[in-house]
Amino acid sequence: MRTLKNLLDRNRSWADGTRAADPSFFAETSKSQHPQYLWIGCADSRVPATTVVDMKPGEIFVHRNIANVVVHTDLNCLSVLQYAVEVLKVEHIIVCGHYGCGGVKAALDGQRHGLIDNWLRHIQDVAQKHEGMLGGAGSGDARTDRLTELNVIEQVLNVCRTTIVEDAWERGQSLCLHSWIYSIEDGILHDLGACVASLAEVEPAYEAAVEAIAGRLAEASNG
Ligand code: CO
Repeated sequence: MRTLKNLLDRNRSWADGTRAADPSFFAETSKSQHPQYLWIGCADSRVPATTVVDMKPGEIFVHRNIANVVVHTDLNCLSVLQYAVEVLKVEHIIVCGHYGCGGVKAALDGQRHGLIDNWLRHIQDVAQKHEGMLGGAGSGDARTDRLTELNVIEQVLNVCRTTIVEDAWERGQSLCLHSWIYSIEDGILHDLGACVASLAEVEPAYEAAVEAIAGRLAEASNG
């Protein structure tokens, strides 16, 4: 119990299996990493980045926190972003939210949860920004789902507005931002908008993605 033997046993078996399938795997990956993707996702145990896109260790650089929030003063997230963009030179940054996100639900439930409420404030800010749209969504799942989608779009915007991404585009580095949402009910990822690959595309892509969410909301309330 104190050594978590079951986990260490599973690790041995995984390492053995991985080596059996590809004898040079660990020798190759231990030399360096060349991931093409940075994943910014929720810490939720049901949305493990590498697993849900069926990739291997070494293929995705990952930052996860409660409700996949990108805050401009979060040195942890910014350091990951800087390393991914400037050193690893990833070509794609994926911000991935997920339906049924406990962080988004907690941001909306009007209850006290402790310290985390200060973090969730960022999601409440997103809700406030889009209150005009969300106001028509009632208080049920539709409101939570649309806010979860809007949160992804807003966090992509936040990534685009960092000095790290602006400077990368400025010097002509190839870098594309993606807004994804994952359904924990069926394991399927959905793309919430076109990829953003330059400073000029940021505003139009943002507007289009928000409009698409408003459209889904209007469709639901009409139907
Ligand atoms: Co979550």
